Amino acid sequence: MTVVISLINLKGGVGKTTTTIAVAEMLAGVFYQKVLVIDLDPQTNATVMLIGEERWEALNDNHHTLCQLFLNATDPDNHQFDLVQTLQHQVSNVTDVETLDLLPSSLDLVDIQYKLATIPTGKFYALCPIDILRRGIQPIIEHYDYILIDCPPNLGIITLNGLQISQRYIIPAIPDLLSTYCIPHVIATVHDFSETIGQSIEPLGIVISKYQADMTLHERVIKDLRRYSKDAPVFDAQIHQRQQIAEAAEFLKPHQFSTLKQKWGSLGQFESYLNLTKEIMKRVVA
Ligand SMILES: Nc1ncnc2c1ncn2[C@@H]1O[C@H](COP(=O)(O)OP(=O)(O)O)[C@@H](O)[C@H]1O
Ligand SMILES: [Mg+2]
Repeated sequence: MTVVISLINLKGGVGKTTTTIAVAEMLAGVFYQKVLVIDLDPQTNATVMLIGEERWEALNDNHHTLCQLFLNATDPDNHQFDLVQTLQHQVSNVTDVETLDLLPSSLDLVDIQYKLATIPTGKFYALCPIDILRRGIQPIIEHYDYILIDCPPNLGIITLNGLQISQRYIIPAIPDLLSTYCIPHVIATVHDFSETIGQSIEPLGIVISKYQADMTLHERVIKDLRRYSKDAPVFDAQIHQRQQIAEAAEFLKPHQFSTLKQKWGSLGQFESYLNLTKEIMKRVVA
């Protein structure tokens, strides 16, 4: 069965996208899993990290992004969403990564969020605004071992579309006060949502990202999280703040790197993401 995991935090800049891409690349490149990244964030960061800006622009000009799927729901006369043309195969700029696909996002997605709340619900109210993603990508879900969904920093309708197809979710967080403040709210809201739709969506855990070992505040927040966050246990693997991880956001060309270690860093960064991925794989089957 396909494991579908959303990455969520209500705060921006906490490492949601970077964690999504790194874990997706580890799953595909090290464990030979078939992986799909779904970019639901209008900021399109995951998309641009995986295919670069030029290729994204061409797709966007041709209406081959997830924006079209949501637009169709608000306006059926608009360009039809074309799943085959939109699905990008063998993305990533690492040669070792051969089984990673992408459903790209678009900056235009930002305007759609509000329209979705008012879409006509169709015959017998059968159309539901939180069911658009599931309906749109149903034919390909089972082609994958893992689907990772990079969510925008809110719990709006687009994010709910992602949660709707997820069995699990991960909360990436910088171990500081503002990045962890919303965690209880996220857990409570997703729990409520899952009860409402009658489907289990369980927290897999909290990923400590951009950790700075010399900051006593980070140490303190991590201790508190480990002690109190029983619903979403903190992963043992911690991702330190490192320049090479920030640089990994830059897509220059396909085959920019031969190995994942070259891309993410050989001073422990690659191992941290690898260990995190192992923990995720373990928790998924636990
Ligand atoms: N471990 C890290 N070390 C250094 N920079 C990082 C790290 N993780 C993410 N970044 C950088 O921090 C910024 C925010 O990360 P990002 O993954 O885009 O967060 P989000 O998706 O939550 O907004 C980006 O510029 C990214 O490259
Ligand atoms: Mg992001």
